[in-house]
Amino acid sequence: MKAIVQDNYGSPDVLELREIDKPVVQDDEVLVRVRAASVHPDVWHVMTGLPYVLRMMGAGLRRPKNPVPGTDVAGIVESVGKHVTRFRPGDEVFGETIRGQQWTNGGAYAEYATAPEDALALKPANVTFEQAAAVPTSALIALAAVRYDGKIQPGQKVLVNGAGGGVGAVAVQLAKALGADVTGVDSANKLDMVRSIGADRVIDYTQEDFTRRGERYDLIVDIPGNHSLSDCRRALTPGGTYVLIGHDNYGHGMRRWVGSLPRMFKLMAMSPFVSQLPDVRFSAPDKKESMAVLKELLESGKLTPHIDRTYPLSEVPEAIRYLQEGHAKGKVVITV
Ligand SMILES: NC(=O)c1ccc[n+]([C@@H]2O[C@H](COP(=O)([O-])OP(=O)(O)OC[C@H]3O[C@@H](n4cnc5c(N)ncnc54)[C@H](OP(=O)(O)O)[C@@H]3O)[C@@H](O)[C@H]2O)c1
Repeated sequence: MKAIVQDNYGSPDVLELREIDKPVVQDDEVLVRVRAASVHPDVWHVMTGLPYVLRMMGAGLRRPKNPVPGTDVAGIVESVGKHVTRFRPGDEVFGETIRGQQWTNGGAYAEYATAPEDALALKPANVTFEQAAAVPTSALIALAAVRYDGKIQPGQKVLVNGAGGGVGAVAVQLAKALGADVTGVDSANKLDMVRSIGADRVIDYTQEDFTRRGERYDLIVDIPGNHSLSDCRRALTPGGTYVLIGHDNYGHGMRRWVGSLPRMFKLMAMSPFVSQLPDVRFSAPDKKESMAVLKELLESGKLTPHIDRTYPLSEVPEAIRYLQEGHAKGKVVITV
């Protein structure tokens, strides 16, 4: 099969289109004929091997253990492992090709990819393969922030900082789906899109600092993490919640060894003492259950993936360069 392969960590120049063997399914896995895959910042992290700590967390010390990048797919089931019960050949599916929340290559940028059964859901008929592939990683983290950590109720006020990116555009729609009043913060050229996906109000972060406007929110989903916790607490109701997603901005805003992990760990350590921080979770919400929620949201039209550009498989390096430039509104998708 054709696949994008990387033998070393580095810039998008390390990625090559090659012929390799089809992957073989494990007992609990599904082999998917990939129709579309998507790009997100964690693909960039594993491609570059930065921050270095990810190499020790399973990605591969000197070179990627799995040479084929990409973690988000939509496609058609080709075959299933002997313990798989929910899918059969011919089913249209979407999901992640990795287990848990690993920082590893997932083999999605290829004609065929394997995925754990529990990381997949049936693709709703009302969305295209491209739209479905845009959802998994970004929406799983957005869902964890808005629904599980934020516990948002109808009428509450939610602010999404970084609302025009992959995670933010989903967080805005999930908060709206739960009946919240939503403010989206991003740069000026993304604000029309942020309004179009349902934000009630928008703020251009180059003109205004949301922590100094006197407004208070029940939930702040902070993707770039460019304000201190104490600044963000000024914009939170006393019972509100601050959730940091964290964005290393393609190497510009991070420490090369550990990235934004120290800030994450500091917030986790403070969580028992600061009521506005979510309870510490050592694992992500159940992926099978979360994928089922995302499928329903897509089916009902409450979640509509916003695709900025699509690239063919051979142009994955260009797609990653485009994402890295920071101009993408919503998601960048690969068609296979
Ligand atoms: N923890 C997890 O499991 C998990 C899962 C998924 C994703 N993530 C992380 O989530 C992060 C975000 O992913 P993404 O797909 O949303 O990235 P993205 O598409 O690059 O979006 C980031 C958005 O933040 C905006 N932004 C940058 N600086 C800002 C500022 N100072 N104020 C407000 N907005 C600002 C960017 O806009 P401009 O470029 O126009 O400024 C962009 O629209 C990634 O770093 C990824 O590693 C984590």
